[in-house]
Amino acid sequence: MPQFATRLDAMVPAEASQLLSQVKEMQRQGKNIIPLCVGESDFDTHVAARNAAKEAVDAGETKYAPLAGIHELRQAICEKLKRENGVDYNVENVIASTGGKQVIFNALMATLNQGDEVIVLAPYWAGYPDVIRVCGGVPIFVETSEADEYILKSEALVESITVRTRWMILNSPSNPTGAVYGLADLESVADVVRRYPDIWIMTDDIYEHVVFDGQKFVTLAEVAPDLKDRILIVNGCSKGYAMTGWRIGYGAANAELILRMITIQSQVTLSPSTISQWAAVKALNDNLAFDDEQIDLLKARRDLVVSMLNDVNGLSCRRPKGAFYIYVNCEQSLGKVAPNGAVIESDRDLCRYFLEEAEVAVMPGSAYGLSPYFRVSYGIGTADLKEACIRIQAACAALMHA
Ligand SMILES: Cc1ncc(COP(=O)(O)O)c(C=O)c1O
Repeated sequence: MPQFATRLDAMVPAEASQLLSQVKEMQRQGKNIIPLCVGESDFDTHVAARNAAKEAVDAGETKYAPLAGIHELRQAICEKLKRENGVDYNVENVIASTGGKQVIFNALMATLNQGDEVIVLAPYWAGYPDVIRVCGGVPIFVETSEADEYILKSEALVESITVRTRWMILNSPSNPTGAVYGLADLESVADVVRRYPDIWIMTDDIYEHVVFDGQKFVTLAEVAPDLKDRILIVNGCSKGYAMTGWRIGYGAANAELILRMITIQSQVTLSPSTISQWAAVKALNDNLAFDDEQIDLLKARRDLVVSMLNDVNGLSCRRPKGAFYIYVNCEQSLGKVAPNGAVIESDRDLCRYFLEEAEVAVMPGSAYGLSPYFRVSYGIGTADLKEACIRIQAACAALMHA
């Protein structure tokens, strides 16, 4: 057989997408699986953004666009960043890409040499480590803890920095924990990175619009303007505008980095979809991110899951301040025995048990670099969410001590 590339050794298909395919297959076979593993909400894209796309098609906006995105979108990104985040960027400082995922790929591909290190805070979004490896880098994991509400400790960051460190990645609100960095937390990160002028900082702000309980989202570039030239803001329309399928992400950074990211993009996808870009222009210019009603609904779902799972013997979770995920501690469930006699040895075993016996799909903490936990995504309809929690409660009640 003709060969495959060795670079594939560094890659596995995203585990959440794999699980979702498995769920779809089980559903096709007639099983009533409730998926709590999807990285998106059940909300529809705002009608005004949808109409903007339709109008773009009818106006013939169906051709290739400039590499870094249409001028109108780059302008809309700059205005959004100024209006909502208090940071000044010009059009040459921004790039529109095919999802936030491609912004990250462009940046790492444009900056990493073989063996360069990238600091990733665990638990992490599973998308980071593999893309770092694909770009020749080495992910260096720095653990955060539930006790610290998954906020990085400065000392741990300092200890992880070496001469090979090229990037640190900060994701707030966080996937998978929902942790949100406040002003003081960002100031302590800034105090450390300020001492290392050769390190880039990537702030993945993609969940910025999903914050609760009066928590205010702040981005590092606003808190530490002196670091702005070394910061790449990663953001996009996917999560907070319910536009995951449109595939529009954007990056903002110094123009030198953006130029190199454009070079990478020119060899991979060219610009993102022209039609989607027009929808994104509308979404950003008219601020079509989740409204108060949608945030209240997500908050009610969060509270439902937190209270129902905290009632379960063997599970516990905190009330996260952002994103639409809950990271559930399942340490007390390990070592127990399922009705079929199998011992639950790990979070992965527990998730398999939930899938097979309770027909609920959740992601194991091992996929995010911190065990024993599992991640619940609560972006689905409230009735299904409640039913899923009832099933988890029953499944856990059926576990026996060894
Ligand atoms: C933390 C984080 N960053 C980036 C992305 C990429 O989003 P997209 O490529 O859909 O814009 C995701 C998607 O799950 C994410 O959770």
